[in-house]
Amino acid sequence: MTSPDSLPNSVLALMGRHRSVRAFTDEPVERSLVERSVAAAQQAATSSWIQGYQILEVGRGPRRDEIARLAGGQSQVQSAPLFFVVCGDTRRHRAAAKLHGEPHVECTETFLLATIDASLFAQNLSLALEAHGLGTCYIGGIRNDLPALDELLAIPSGTFPLFGLAVGWPDADPGKRPRLSPSDVWTREIFPIDAEVEDTIQRFDEVATRYYAERGADKRDWSGGIWRKFKTALRPGLKAYYESKGASLT
Ligand SMILES: Cc1cc2nc3c(=O)[nH]c(=O)nc-3n(C[C@H](O)[C@H](O)[C@H](O)COP(=O)(O)O)c2cc1C
Repeated sequence: MTSPDSLPNSVLALMGRHRSVRAFTDEPVERSLVERSVAAAQQAATSSWIQGYQILEVGRGPRRDEIARLAGGQSQVQSAPLFFVVCGDTRRHRAAAKLHGEPHVECTETFLLATIDASLFAQNLSLALEAHGLGTCYIGGIRNDLPALDELLAIPSGTFPLFGLAVGWPDADPGKRPRLSPSDVWTREIFPIDAEVEDTIQRFDEVATRYYAERGADKRDWSGGIWRKFKTALRPGLKAYYESKGASLT
């Protein structure tokens, strides 16, 4: 199989260079570059052509500072030259139904469609920005306190904030975080048996331990981080919040 690194000018090589960037220089990002990237990102496939997403750009200043605080004090949210709140969006679908005097029924599927569309768009956007040499960092931390974010940004009904995207010129190379092997996430005809899943974890723990050790953190592995993350229900208020914005997660 051809390694992405052997295709230096290709999309595969660009994808292989991805790292989340959390420290940015002060250099501004040209508007035209962002406009081209957003337009390119919109070419992502979209379920049934619904284009169920909306992004809100929030400039530096008190509102951005507050988002950084709500996200758990993430300094890259404050310092990034550009910051977007990426939302799933069914507003246009509701308006289309209204235009025709017909009902618009929200359900788990409509929420998923908007979430999937928004995610595909955002990843295309991140890649387009990275193609220009910019760095990006997704910010799931915006879901820490959605009612507060809602008030801060006056989020309309039918718009579902999912994550942020901080963008700017990288201050330094944060280094590459390794991934599972392709054969760990890709099997043919049958899914891996439990023993194979356990073997994957053991092998990846060794990879992660080396990664952490190179960064001065001893005795850390991947599975330890995973069980700690999922030992209690995460952000339990999400269903109530999204339903308050018109989603129906039944
Ligand atoms: C939906 C999503 C939300 C994320 N939220 C955060 C976040 O709030 N803060 C952060 O520093 N990184 C966040 N990340 C970045 C991940 O931590 C990062 O992608 C992962 O550790 C792998 O590292 P890499 O992107 O450098 O390869 C998020 C990534 C995704 C996809």
